[in-house]
Amino acid sequence: MALIDSCGRTINYLRLSVTDRCNLRCSYCMPAGGCPPCHDAPLADEDLYRISRAAVASGVEKIRITGGEPLLREGIIDFLADLARIPGLRRLVLTTNGLLLTEMADKLREAGVSSLNISLDSLRPDTFARITRGGNLERVMAGLDAAGRAGFSHIRINVVVMRGVNDDEAAAFAALTLDRPYRVRFIERMPTGNGDDWRSTTVPGVELLNRLNGRYRLQPVEREPLSGPAVYYRIPGAAGQIGFITPVSCHFCGDCNRIRVSCAGIARGCLFDEGGTDLKPLLQHDDDAHLQEALRRTASDKPERHRLGDRGAVAAREPFKMSQIGG
Ligand code: GTP
Ligand code: 5AD
Ligand code: SF4
Repeated sequence: MALIDSCGRTINYLRLSVTDRCNLRCSYCMPAGGCPPCHDAPLADEDLYRISRAAVASGVEKIRITGGEPLLREGIIDFLADLARIPGLRRLVLTTNGLLLTEMADKLREAGVSSLNISLDSLRPDTFARITRGGNLERVMAGLDAAGRAGFSHIRINVVVMRGVNDDEAAAFAALTLDRPYRVRFIERMPTGNGDDWRSTTVPGVELLNRLNGRYRLQPVEREPLSGPAVYYRIPGAAGQIGFITPVSCHFCGDCNRIRVSCAGIARGCLFDEGGTDLKPLLQHDDDAHLQEALRRTASDKPERHRLGDRGAVAAREPFKMSQIGG
């Protein structure tokens, strides 16, 4: 049964964070020392499985696995293979930093993951190491190649653009799409409440679009079903596409189709929700009816929009951890 929220949006997409641990420390996501672990331990596979099954029974058709870094979760491949078999689930997809793909890409494909989003914020080894606080670019590039060889097509590359850090690489990233079928997506940096001056580094998507249009004549690409917030273009004749994700300058809340569950079992209707609903007590019941009801409520009570674009709005809220919510 389709799930419609109070604003008339169809909610058919769950972002499930399976761990808050990460093997990088990206500056736009975490403080240098990393985030303290969640107050609550991550749920067991069986519990995350039950939540996912209840979500599918409530209208979810697509599950995106996020983290932290989801490939760090022990037993992730078997867990994914179980999720992929949930009747009614149309797409199981995953967002990763790519560091472990060389060893895991084939197994992810065999487990039934249908596509990958890979974070990659710079093509320069020193800038990459600076943004990720020590990450090895070569390893991610090898992971990207391994994913292609494993049969993942249309890999999406997530680039969080920061002024004065990597915004001068937009053309180099765009050029990656010329002969490879990648979807390179430029993402506006969002706040994480760490008290840093995030607005001064956020680059509006339209600014990048204008810059790239000066060089290539970008053609708009039609939206695909079950697709998310990115708006896509193509360099004429290119194998891949270029996307813009603009949560700050132009929120896409009117088309939002998603709810989120953290690895500790907190369900949220919006990335910027402060509280959320604790699903753990509902796991005590033998059947999934209570879980289904809670997930439906999470979806139907989704806020109409976030307030990131409103000056001062985010200053009032508690710092929140992108790595615990899964972006
Ligand atoms: P699909 O919808 O499956 O295409 O995935 P996606 O592009 O939304 O997923 P991904 O994990 O690659 O996230 C890309 C960027 O979009 C990240 O910066 C996320 O934080 C951001 N994002 C994803 N969903 C939302 C959302 O609902 N609200 C906001 N503000 N940002 C989001
Ligand atoms: N702003 C925008 N995107 C972010 N991500 C993590 N933190 C932020 C932020 N502050 C992105 C990561 C990853 C995705 C899950 O979320 O780059 O690709
Ligand atoms: Fe939807 Fe909230 Fe994301 Fe806006 S910020 S698109 S309402 S989840």
